Amino acid sequence: MNKIEAIIRPEKLTDVKDALAAIGVVGMNSENVMGRGRQKGVVVHEGRGSNPVTIDMLPKVRVNVVVSDADTEKVCQTIIDAARTGEIGDGKVFIIPVSQVIRVRTGEQGDEAI
Ligand SMILES: Nc1ncnc2c1ncn2[C@@H]1O[C@H](COP(=O)(O)OP(=O)(O)OP(=O)(O)O)[C@@H](O)[C@H]1O
Ligand SMILES: [Mg+2]
Repeated sequence: MNKIEAIIRPEKLTDVKDALAAIGVVGMNSENVMGRGRQKGVVVHEGRGSNPVTIDMLPKVRVNVVVSDADTEKVCQTIIDAARTGEIGDGKVFIIPVSQVIRVRTGEQGDEAI
């Protein structure tokens, strides 16, 4: 099993959720995060004469989805296709191994508990 952590544009969360639901992936969670990539944030030029302001951490959403090994590639690609605009700042996907999942209500474990 793997945890897919996808950092995406906040306005893409609905598209990503819908795309995941369309391939049968429903269990997930999301968090609002602040972050930056290789451009180190953005420089904003506010009005004529005023000094440019650097905003070094931008709001993003991190979507966390735990999936089976077999589903990992498909789920990643689905997220990427739904989140992509082609512009800088589209986000990043991290894949992290998960050793165990347990459903609290039933005690089911592993793929059964996803
Ligand atoms: N190496 C990293 N580690 C942890 N979080 C990161 C890393 N790189 C990017 N992020 C997170 O992903 C968000 C989006 O990153 P972003 O898409 O700007 O990456 P990038 O490498 O700069 O690519 P691009 O050139 O397409 O903008 C950042 O705001 C930050 O939250
Ligand atoms: Mg960037």
